[in-house]
Amino acid sequence: MNTENDQAQHFANVWGKLTAPVKPSEDGLRIYREEAERFSDKRILILGATPELVDMAVESGAEKIVSIERFPGVVAAMRQLGKKDWSSVDMVIGNWLEDRPDFHSAFNCILCDGGLLFLEYPAQWGQLFRIVRTYLEPDGVFVAKEWAEPPGIWDYDRMLQDHVAAFKEEASRLNLEQKHRAYIKLLSELRIIVFVNATQDDGSFDQDLLIERSDRLIEKFEKEFPDNSMIGITHAAFKYLARSQPGTTDTVAGVRYDRTSELLAQNGFESRYFPLPDPPIPDSNYMFAAKLSE
Ligand SMILES: C[S@@+](CC[C@H](N)C(=O)[O-])C[C@H]1O[C@@H](n2cnc3c(N)ncnc32)[C@H](O)[C@@H]1O
Repeated sequence: MNTENDQAQHFANVWGKLTAPVKPSEDGLRIYREEAERFSDKRILILGATPELVDMAVESGAEKIVSIERFPGVVAAMRQLGKKDWSSVDMVIGNWLEDRPDFHSAFNCILCDGGLLFLEYPAQWGQLFRIVRTYLEPDGVFVAKEWAEPPGIWDYDRMLQDHVAAFKEEASRLNLEQKHRAYIKLLSELRIIVFVNATQDDGSFDQDLLIERSDRLIEKFEKEFPDNSMIGITHAAFKYLARSQPGTTDTVAGVRYDRTSELLAQNGFESRYFPLPDPPIPDSNYMFAAKLSE
């Protein structure tokens, strides 16, 4: 992939083959929307270029919308996937962890869907919280979604088997288009199941385990579902999504809300908790809305 255009096609292709819980669910979007709607003149910063969030911001009539993402190809891809007119959106190529003085006190709403998964806990999370604090106006809000394994016994092999069996049973009654949609849903959920029992005490994911599971799933599903379009979905979920480098994934940490709220508090935020009912494990995807402490 040489040109930015090739990269954009690649990412649009990958992202277009996935759905919630990898992408924001309706429940998640409702929370982002409600938090943004508290402001009559919205100045929204989106960490990442999640099309559903940018579309929501455009639809809300925000006076200023900025999105910041490190890969130009991702930005171009997300623009293709957006359904609204993004011409007034300022798409910035950059690193969230680099302070931008021009952003200081410039936003009343900062949104991030799943971005914390990409940062090391606690050092980079704390760094991001401190930067976000400087970007917010005094009454502003930082709303984010994160994934972390809830307490309980979660059996990876069992969950994998049950989900695949349920898909096969359902698929026998579906036409081709419905079957593809059900396969996209299955793989988007399995993409999350790959994290089960992979979180270490320090909040980091065991990268070797994530890679081993993902590679095994590619092999398994290429054999079981060899149809070209299904292979495309398999590769989107397990070969390309958040795998920008060999031997590791881009998703590095998953921490429950108790530890997140503590770190937010240490960095000057008061937060509220929104567990999400997203499958495959309710409450594993969760959101928080954080305001500057008095
Ligand atoms: C926002 S997150 C999660 C995906 C999200 N659920 C969505 O719907 O787009 C994914 C994006 O964050 C970007 N990203 C991760 N760390 C970053 C950083 N430090 N600076 C800028 N972008 C970053 C990745 O390149 C990736 O495209």
